[in-house]
Amino acid sequence: MNFEIILATNNKHKLQEVREILAPHGMTIYGLNDLNLRPEEVEENAPDYFGNALLKAEAVAKLTTMPIIADDSGLEIEAMDNKPGIHSARFASECGGHEKAISNILQFLKDKDNRKARFVCNIVLLNMSDKPLRFEGIATGHIAKEPYGEGGFGYDPIFVSDELKKTFAEAGQEEKNKASHRGKALTKLLTYLRINGKAR
Ligand code: IMP
Repeated sequence: MNFEIILATNNKHKLQEVREILAPHGMTIYGLNDLNLRPEEVEENAPDYFGNALLKAEAVAKLTTMPIIADDSGLEIEAMDNKPGIHSARFASECGGHEKAISNILQFLKDKDNRKARFVCNIVLLNMSDKPLRFEGIATGHIAKEPYGEGGFGYDPIFVSDELKKTFAEAGQEEKNKASHRGKALTKLLTYLRINGKAR
């Protein structure tokens, strides 16, 4: 039987990315909507990605004993003192959406030479061992001069991956998964699950 796990999100893009990576290894990934789970709203006010991912996972753990994964991620831009970082989602909503956030970032970086940036992702796994497990993935790159590409979500159109030499929005899903912060964190998770006989 497939190993079943819950991804603590309603974000369809994240769910798709996670499924694409884990499903071929004999795992079934459920989103919260799939199981009609309605965890209490989490205020993501922890000081780091791990803390926020843990808050999301713990809210779901109040409702089920199934294994749970939750992720927290963000875009860190060197010239902006590594912001928006853990506040990437909040920054976008305060700007009025990702499109506006992107144009604000491009405006801020207009005359800056240093356009280096990275995406960071922390995945927390709960209900598998006696303590939460953490898997981290980092994708390095830089901020493009303007948005490129139609795919992906969030800040993808302006993030040029060092590995892909194009933005995440220009990359296909499979390509993005190989180079992305979430893909790298999930690969580590997969290794752990394989060692424990839960994945192929
Ligand atoms: P959270 O991890 O759901 O809290 O979201 C973090 C923020 O970073 C959101 O605003 C996302 O849009 C953004 N983000 C996270 N991962 C990606 C990605 O793979 N591409 C583009 N933006 C992302």
